[in-house]
Amino acid sequence: MEKEILELKDNYINSIDNVNGLSELDLIKSKVLGKNGELTRFLKQVSSLPPEKRPVMGQLVNKAKSEIMAILSAKQSKLEHARLHSKLSKDGTDASLPGISVKKGHLHPISLVIREIVTLFDRFGFTVKEGPDIESEEFNFEALNIGKDHPARDMHDTFYLTNKQLLRTHTSPVQIRTMLNEKPPLRILAPGKVYRYDADTSHSPVFHQIEGLYVDKNVTLADLKGTLTTFLHSFFGQDYDVRFRSSYFPFTEPSVEVDVKWNDPGSKLHGKWFEVMGAGLVQREVFRQTKIDPDLYTGFAFGMGIERLAMLKYQINDIRLLYENDSRLLKQF
Ligand code: PHE
Repeated sequence: MEKEILELKDNYINSIDNVNGLSELDLIKSKVLGKNGELTRFLKQVSSLPPEKRPVMGQLVNKAKSEIMAILSAKQSKLEHARLHSKLSKDGTDASLPGISVKKGHLHPISLVIREIVTLFDRFGFTVKEGPDIESEEFNFEALNIGKDHPARDMHDTFYLTNKQLLRTHTSPVQIRTMLNEKPPLRILAPGKVYRYDADTSHSPVFHQIEGLYVDKNVTLADLKGTLTTFLHSFFGQDYDVRFRSSYFPFTEPSVEVDVKWNDPGSKLHGKWFEVMGAGLVQREVFRQTKIDPDLYTGFAFGMGIERLAMLKYQINDIRLLYENDSRLLKQF
């Protein structure tokens, strides 16, 4: 029996070596290892041997089996590999060509500008606060000293909902929410969407603003000018002049509009002034509305349009380009 097993093993190893196709290999596999395979038959015979012979013969059969199996699976992967190779060469597929690379996304220019501003004001200790897009008329207007018949409401014609609610026309109501809920000193930055009944190449009915508020003892107009000038120099460049023009907002007194002078000799804009934000010292009436003592505290506030800053900084001349998500524009950032 021993001799027969060894012979059988050698025979099969030989024939496996000569096989050229996977189906032929399968056939051999079942002929030797299948239910009624030749080696399986030997395995069954082992149990009918006298007990003292069983271990030796059992081991022999099992060893033959595992050798045949190892050679079978090596041959199988060799044949599969060859089959794949011939398929690819018939297809004309070149497996050595580089793969298709996945395009990575990145932040939208609006998000980039918001993040840059937040980072710059972080140096002055400002932290981010957010308010709801659906705001009460009270916080959007009255608490900011914009009375019912105040002409400033005209500029803020917006989308009204029921229950004296509206889509906020500016981020300034976040000033009110913060002053009502927290005690000075306060240093907050409030980015978000705002809504106005307005649309042309430089206005969109939905756009973004960033609001800033600083309340503490002895805050002066000099603090406002210093902080905003430092910010604008960091954002646009040290060589951009900054000027403050007196202006009017019901919730600040005095109020200013802030301009930067474009400084790029290669550009058509060179030497021109651009308004970039509104600002001022917090009106005493706003402090009274929010239960902060105007004799103890002063503060400054500012608000800027993100799209406007992005359009200036990246020289984009139509606001709609910022919303169309045309990859030819976006991939430049
Ligand atoms: N809320 C004003 C606007 O939308 C901007 C502003 C904010 C002005 C804070 C002064 C202080 O036009």
